[in-house]
Amino acid sequence: METSRVQALLASPPLGSPVQIRGWVRTRRDSKAGFSFLEVNDGSCMGNLQVIAETSLPNYADEISKLLPGCSVEIAGKLVESVGGGQKVELRAETVSVLGWADASYPLQKKRHSLEFLRSLAHLRPRTNTLGAVMRVRSSLAQAVHAYFRDNGFFYIHTPIVTSSDAEGAGQMFQVTTLDLGTPPRKPDGTIDYEQDFFGRRTSLTVSGQLEAEIYAMSLGKVYTFGPTFRAENSNTTRHLAEFWMIEPEVAFNDLQANAALAEDFLKKVLGSVLESNADDLKFLDERVQPGLIASLRNVIEEPFERMTYTEAVKHLKASGESFELPVDWGVPLQTEHERYLTEKMLKKPVILTDYPKDIAAFYMRLNDDGKTVRAMDVLVPQIGEIIGGSQREERYEVLKKRLEDLKMSLDDYWWYLELRKYGTAQHSGFGLGFERLVLFATGIGNIRDAIPFPRFPKHAEF
Ligand code: 4AD
Ligand code: MG
Repeated sequence: METSRVQALLASPPLGSPVQIRGWVRTRRDSKAGFSFLEVNDGSCMGNLQVIAETSLPNYADEISKLLPGCSVEIAGKLVESVGGGQKVELRAETVSVLGWADASYPLQKKRHSLEFLRSLAHLRPRTNTLGAVMRVRSSLAQAVHAYFRDNGFFYIHTPIVTSSDAEGAGQMFQVTTLDLGTPPRKPDGTIDYEQDFFGRRTSLTVSGQLEAEIYAMSLGKVYTFGPTFRAENSNTTRHLAEFWMIEPEVAFNDLQANAALAEDFLKKVLGSVLESNADDLKFLDERVQPGLIASLRNVIEEPFERMTYTEAVKHLKASGESFELPVDWGVPLQTEHERYLTEKMLKKPVILTDYPKDIAAFYMRLNDDGKTVRAMDVLVPQIGEIIGGSQREERYEVLKKRLEDLKMSLDDYWWYLELRKYGTAQHSGFGLGFERLVLFATGIGNIRDAIPFPRFPKHAEF
C-alpha cells in the first residue's frame, strides 16, 4: 500500500479507506478497555495521528505494548472519526510494524526541554514540535523567496563561495587554503607564498555575493543570490552566526527609494506567504514560544514601513530619555538596543533608516552630495533590529576609485568591480537579507542558533 503523509490525512481525511503511515511514536498510552493509543508524528506537519492498537493484534504483547517514544513504525488500518475529544480522526490499526526500536534512554521524553539543551542534540531536535515547526517554516520561507523573485522578473545567480575579494571590506573572512599550515612555503622575505596555494592566490569563504551579483545586475537587469555566507566575527549574540544564508537582490537603474520599496514589498510578501502555508506551525509557535507572534507578523504585513534618515534617528534616540547601555552619537553605528527602541517603542512597526555616515559605511555605497553620508539603508524590525542592509551603489568610476584609495584597499583586487563603472555604468541598488534573521522573525524562536539546522558560531561546529 502507498504510504500517506499525516498532513494530507488530517487535511482531508479519506474516512473509511485503508491507509498506511510511517513515522515516529511520540507517546503510548494503554487503556484498560483493551487497546493502546499511539501518537505518531511523521514530520509532515505539527499534528500527530492518533492510532488505536487493540490488544488482539498478533504482536501486541511482544511489540506494541513495548513501544516507547522515538520508535519508528509503519501502521496500516482504517481512518475513522474519532470518538474521543482532541482530534477529529484516528487510525484503527490493522497492522503495526516496528521499523526501529528506541529505548528509555531516548533523550526526547514527553516533557519540555530547553532550546539550549536541544541544541546539544542537533541530530534529534527536529523531532520536537518546536524545532519541527521552525524548520518547516524555514523551508516555506526559502520557497517563498524564490517564488517572489521569479514572479517579479528576477534571475537567480549562483555567486561563488570561494572568493579572493572581501565584499564588505571588513576583514572578517575565513581563509581557504590547501597549504601545509605547519610549514607553509615562504617567499624570500619570510611571508607566506600564496602563489603555491591551490588557487595561486589568497582565498577565503565569501561574506556576501553582492559584488558578483552587481556584475549580473549590470547585464541581466534584475538578479538575486541566495546562498551561504561566512563571517569570522567573534559575536556571541542571539542574532549572529558564523555561517548563514543571505538573500541579495541587485537591480540595475534602481535608486535608494526603489530599493527600499522593493525590500518592503518583498518582506511583506514572503511573510504573508508563510502565514498561509504554515498556519498550524505559526499557531503553535504563537501559543508556546512567542505570544503575539502572529499579530506582530500581521502588523508588518499590513502597516506601511516608516522611513527615516540615520540623522533623524539619532535625534530621536537622543531625545528619548532612555538610558541605553551604549551612548548614541552621530557617526557611531547604532546598537541593537537603539534599533529596537525605534521600531518597538517609538514607532511600533518596521522602519527603514537611510543615509548613514560615510565613515561607518561599506566602500561601495554611493556618496551623497553632502560628502558626509552615503545612500545606505537598513530595515529594522521589532524583536530583531537590523534584518536587511543595503544601499544604492557608487556607480561613478572616479568617486569609487578615490574611496578605495582612501580606505587603503587594493585597486588590483577590485579591478573588475571598477571596470563595471567604466563600461556602461548606471545607477543601481540592492540589499542583503540574513535568511536566519528572517526565520527568527517569522518564528519568534528567540535565538538565531535555533533558526538554522546546524548552527556555526565561535567554538561550535559539531554535527
Ligand atoms: O548588512 P550586511 O553586512 O550587508 C551586506 O553584506 C551587503 N553586501 C548586502 C547587500 O547589499 N547585498 O549583511 C546583510 C544582512 C544583515 O542585515 C543581516 O540580516 C545579515 O545579513 N547578517 C547576519 N546574519 C546572521 N549572522 C551574521 N553574522 C550576520 N551578518 C549579517
Ligand atoms: Mg549591516
